[in-house]
Amino acid sequence: MAEDKKLGRNKKDSNDDMINLVDNLNRDDDVKYNRRAFLKSTVGASVAIGLATLPFSVLALNSKKDDSNRVFVANLSDVPKDSSMNFTYPTKDDPAILVHTKQGELKAYNNKCTHLQCPVFYEKEESVLLCPCHKGYFSLDNGHPLAGPPQRELPLIELQVKDGAIFAVGRKIRHE
Ligand code: FES
Repeated sequence: MAEDKKLGRNKKDSNDDMINLVDNLNRDDDVKYNRRAFLKSTVGASVAIGLATLPFSVLALNSKKDDSNRVFVANLSDVPKDSSMNFTYPTKDDPAILVHTKQGELKAYNNKCTHLQCPVFYEKEESVLLCPCHKGYFSLDNGHPLAGPPQRELPLIELQVKDGAIFAVGRKIRHE
């Protein structure tokens, strides 16, 4: 009788042990599965994001490349001192202004005002670039805003003069 009781208790204990063991195995499987699923989904998401942004990266590389195109702007003889002319750079959709200053320097900027995109003009009397929309003033020397609403510089266009011809050779956007 005592033997049976002892045996009964042991059977119960061993049954409980088996149930616990199976539970633990299942729990280990769950953890393993969850960890694997998490890693898979994380790697998958990273790859998906990388592939999704690839066209933008290529576009950005191309636009940088476009900015360093060498484009004929004008013959120097066609832009006398203290005058300006409009052109486009680096694409036909990027209006720009070339100024031949009173001192004989050549300066060029994209001429969309950095406030609300109105075109800026060469203002001879004060030797500045003026946006007439809200009276924004930019330095002719460096394109920095001097007065009025604009807060950012005009994109600077780098120039080269060769054999009497002026070329745009690059663009520097100082603020996005
Ligand atoms: S658009 Fe040029 S100052 Fe406003």
